[in-house]
Amino acid sequence: MVSILFFLATLVASAFADGYTCANIMRNPTQNLSEPYYYPETWRENMEPTKYAPNQICNWQINVPEGLYATVIFYKKTDSESGIKCTYPNGEQVYIEDNDQNPYKFTYPRFQIDLQVGDKQGEFSFKVVWSEYPDGRSMYIGLDGVHSIASVPTSYYTTVTAVNQVMLVGFSVPDVPLALLRQSAIYEGGYTNGTYLGNLVNARSGQIYSTSNKLGVYTFGLEKFINQTVFMVLDSRAKWNSVFDGRYIIVRSFDFNRQSYAQDTTETFVTDPNNQMYFKFNVKYLDTNGPTTLDVNVYKNGVAVFTATYTATNPPLPFPNGILGDKMEVNYQTYGNYTQGFQVDILTTKNGDASPSSQSPVSTPSTVTMSPSTLTTKIITSTKSDSPTTFPTLAPGASTTIGTGATRGTTQRYESTTKSGINKFSLTTLAIVGFVMLV
Ligand SMILES: *[C@@H]1O[C@H](CO)[C@@H](O)[C@H](O)[C@H]1NC(C)=O
Ligand SMILES: *[C@@H]1O[C@H](CO)[C@@H](O)[C@H](O)[C@H]1NC(C)=O
Ligand SMILES: *[C@@H]1O[C@H](CO)[C@@H](O)[C@H](O)[C@H]1NC(C)=O
Ligand SMILES: *[C@@H]1O[C@H](CO)[C@@H](O)[C@H](O)[C@H]1NC(C)=O
Repeated sequence: MVSILFFLATLVASAFADGYTCANIMRNPTQNLSEPYYYPETWRENMEPTKYAPNQICNWQINVPEGLYATVIFYKKTDSESGIKCTYPNGEQVYIEDNDQNPYKFTYPRFQIDLQVGDKQGEFSFKVVWSEYPDGRSMYIGLDGVHSIASVPTSYYTTVTAVNQVMLVGFSVPDVPLALLRQSAIYEGGYTNGTYLGNLVNARSGQIYSTSNKLGVYTFGLEKFINQTVFMVLDSRAKWNSVFDGRYIIVRSFDFNRQSYAQDTTETFVTDPNNQMYFKFNVKYLDTNGPTTLDVNVYKNGVAVFTATYTATNPPLPFPNGILGDKMEVNYQTYGNYTQGFQVDILTTKNGDASPSSQSPVSTPSTVTMSPSTLTTKIITSTKSDSPTTFPTLAPGASTTIGTGATRGTTQRYESTTKSGINKFSLTTLAIVGFVMLV
């Protein structure tokens, strides 16, 4: 009797619960590009987001033909619902946040929105606008294999050509929300129809490499908001191991975040000759299964000035200061055991504080050809004010998970409290990072 009553009550409740039920939808651009596609179709941005019914799953596959890009604004109000996400053309999935109306930019050939919600009602609407890339607005950067070139956002589609492969490093910009930097796209090859490789948010947390010797960047009007360095490009072979003021490096094992026997990694970073830098590092993640060790050494003029060997019984401790030197080694050895690898973030600065000094130019441009030719001011060659302000530090008294705190099965691992969204990294991103390790 009680269960029948309960059943009836549930029925009544669901009959009264309003909110839309969505279906899987495939969308092509509107005939007239001045007209956006809204979901639901009667919704407009001056309204509250539309209520959806609980307990449903659906997706929207939205096509982006060659020569077009899509600007999407999500309007989500759900409190705790995390089952609404979008997928970039390279497979990277991003959870959509409540009240985050900074646009997303999606490129050829398509993106997807997934809604998979539980038993609570929420509100979700979105708007898609397809646009043509501006015609004939291109800028060309040629890398010589030695020098790097830093750039502010421009209104031009930028094609970078390297001798080997192009490596793109993102910078965080003080006082600019990270969500604004997602108005950017990095493409394989010289055209906007090339494989999408990520955006400047991805580049900020891990370098992006082209597969060929060409890579394209487009920043979708960011120049209206930002006039500071947002990325730097360099030849992949030239500079991976060379550090400079303000360089932020993420070192990971090859199969990072997966149970694997192939995690052994040795990386060495050096300053320019006769130059010393402060190496500040943070062990973000360390799996110390079995006899695994992580060695971190810093040298000055050939003499070790810092050495540490982290193991299951000697986990890394918060180490806030930079160490002045000219060479840093990171060496992770598992001695035949399987682990999920490690991640060490390194920031190198001239002054030792978290921000790069403003006087030291990174490099000089090598060959820069531009069309039209009036664009010279758009390329800058210093790291002025491009400090990676969010260098992760272990919070004082960051008690938590040192050593045995984070055990699962027989595997011991250490994770710092500032989680870097490891879970949000797609396989593709990991593949890119893995590739970085190989170069
Ligand atoms: C396209 O849509 C805009 C805005 O609704 C309208 O002003 C314009 O006349 C339309 N153009 C065509 C060719 O239908
Ligand atoms: C991309 O566009 C360029 C120039 O329009 C064209 O030459 C190339 O074949 C296209 N590539 C693909 C994969 O569609
Ligand atoms: C950007 O900054 C540079 C140098 O700081 C300056 O010369 C240039 O005029 C600025 N551009 C814009 C669009 O504000
Ligand atoms: C791997 O680690 C486990 C302990 O977690 C240990 O029992 C095992 O012997 C180790 N294997 C090797 C090859 O060292």
